[in-house]
Amino acid sequence: MKRVGTIQIKYMIAKNDFSKAGAAASNIKKTLRKLGISTDVIKRVAVAAYETEMNVIIHSHGGIMYLNIDVEKVTIIAEDKGPGIEDIEMAMKEGYSTATSQIRELGFGAGMGLPNIKRCADNFEIKSSLENSTIIKMSFNLK
Ligand SMILES: Nc1ncnc2c1ncn2[C@@H]1O[C@H](COP(=O)(O)OP(=O)(O)OP(=O)(O)O)[C@@H](O)[C@H]1O
Ligand SMILES: [Mg+2]
Repeated sequence: MKRVGTIQIKYMIAKNDFSKAGAAASNIKKTLRKLGISTDVIKRVAVAAYETEMNVIIHSHGGIMYLNIDVEKVTIIAEDKGPGIEDIEMAMKEGYSTATSQIRELGFGAGMGLPNIKRCADNFEIKSSLENSTIIKMSFNLK
């Protein structure tokens, strides 16, 4: 069912495209500001969206991020083209990272992205396996 007043924006995220790093997250932040959403929610969405976007750029073959806003919540879904995550429990641990030394030189790879996303969101789901792509869904309550 398509609800009246629902905003949906789609962002294409390319693999290794550091020139656009954070572009989707900053557009999401700008969109929420225009709608007059509270700064507490905007801060949390901005951090989670940025970490999600960077993970798709760095760790995946590219993907799509969706922003959905309705009266009750802000939802962000990221779906990528693989290679997937072998051990989700491990990936969720603070400090766990498979980032290469090259990526670490760019300032990424502390292994804090996924735990941060989980902490920021009111609801967080991750689905992934090596046969499938990674799908991350998070929502932020507005009420
Ligand atoms: N979209 C993804 N596709 C494949 N693997 C992923 C994806 N997102 C995360 N991972 C795996 O989970 C690990 C942990 O992710 P997390 O975001 O917590 O840390 P990081 O990206 O390595 O470092 P940081 O986010 O602190 O820069 C990654 O190192 C990677 O192995
Ligand atoms: Mg990360």
